[in-house]
Amino acid sequence: MKNLNLDNIFPAKQWDYIHKLNEILPKVYGDSPKACVITFGCQQNVSDSEKLKGMLFACGYTITEQMEEADFIIFNTCAVRGHAEDRVYGNIGKVKALKKERPGLIVSICGCMAQQQSVAEKIKKSYPYMDICMGTQMFHRLPEFIYKRLNGGKRIFELTLDNKPIIEDIPIKRDRQETGWLPIMYGCNNFCTYCIVPYVRGRERSREPEKIIAEAKGMIANGCKEITLLGQNVNSYGKGEAHGVNFARLLKQLNDLEGDFIIKFMTSHPKDCSIELLDTIAQCKKVSRHLHLPFQSGSSRILKLMNRYYDREQYLNLIKEAKKRIPDVELTSDVIVGFPGETYDDFKETLSLIKEVKFSSLFTFIYSPRGGTPAAEMPDPVSREEKGKWFDELLRVQEEISNKN
Ligand code: SAH
Ligand code: SF4
Ligand code: F3S
Repeated sequence: MKNLNLDNIFPAKQWDYIHKLNEILPKVYGDSPKACVITFGCQQNVSDSEKLKGMLFACGYTITEQMEEADFIIFNTCAVRGHAEDRVYGNIGKVKALKKERPGLIVSICGCMAQQQSVAEKIKKSYPYMDICMGTQMFHRLPEFIYKRLNGGKRIFELTLDNKPIIEDIPIKRDRQETGWLPIMYGCNNFCTYCIVPYVRGRERSREPEKIIAEAKGMIANGCKEITLLGQNVNSYGKGEAHGVNFARLLKQLNDLEGDFIIKFMTSHPKDCSIELLDTIAQCKKVSRHLHLPFQSGSSRILKLMNRYYDREQYLNLIKEAKKRIPDVELTSDVIVGFPGETYDDFKETLSLIKEVKFSSLFTFIYSPRGGTPAAEMPDPVSREEKGKWFDELLRVQEEISNKN
């Protein structure tokens, strides 16, 4: 018999807090307490927010989009670029006035930005009206934190990042029925030198295939027609796990499920995109013929500095294989302009790569230094203004390609 792993089940203790909150909330806020979840960042955060909404709903809140009418507000934040963080601070600022109007209002912050010690310190010191700050691996304890705060407890700062097994069976309230997010793994082990994600999301952890299949079946039964599998690097799904199911095999198992639906997935890392995976995509009728395969830079020199584990030639070979094995494949990608030490010659290699591959669309970013990452310590002589010019040139070239497609 299989050992029961009790570590990864939504704790009974949290259900106790949920039951207590169902009794207390109407006494504090009247008949219909409202909660507002404001989400920044990637699909992983959108998916986590569906769990935040699920827990809040179970506690007895109705979910509102209007911050102004909410009794509980939570910001689920992103730290990937400086701009993402600035937007969050702007929004938190607005809450101060709301809190004065309604002292019973509870305000919380979670997600990748909140996970950073420096941010938590800043919230502690400069935003005294923020009640709860919780990290990316602690958000399942939301019912407990709300209960404690409502009962006069101190402000809560809980940032433990201990990479324990993924907590399963958190209540979920999906935004839509016809299309849905299905996380298959959390965290990242790649440590690209520019990227904050491994520091704020912790180590890569894959869900058990049975859990994923069961969730997919539930979604399909509820009318879902498009399931998007989520992970920072879905191609490395199952690595180091005893079950031996890799991403290609997981796709096959999902493809074999009964029903009229399609399967999408993101994001793929070129270093782990195997021929087995390309062939699986080609063979599986329900798997969408789309690969989001971020290349980040067309220059092998810069790719090495970025710690991406592939060079320009390997990337282009992979694209050739993808086009050969999946003739109707749609290719999209991410690219960073102005990585520390990038020269105009390196940048020209990025331009030539996008001309050669012809992505149907491209997500373009100007490099944003992230404290604590190796790239933030590298010499970065090119001015922001100059990088802006390169960025505009990249947009122009990609626009021409997209128009011709
Ligand atoms: N895990 C995914 C993407 C995660 S973040 C992957 O590896 O492809 C999404 C995109 O943000 C990245 O692909 C990258 O292009 C961009 N990005 C990450 N860190 C950045 C930084 N410091 N500055 C600018 N763009 C960044
Ligand atoms: Fe960041 Fe690289 Fe991990 Fe993607 S693979 S999340 S870019 S460290
Ligand atoms: Fe942002 Fe965290 Fe996603 S940093 S991009 S919300 S994993």
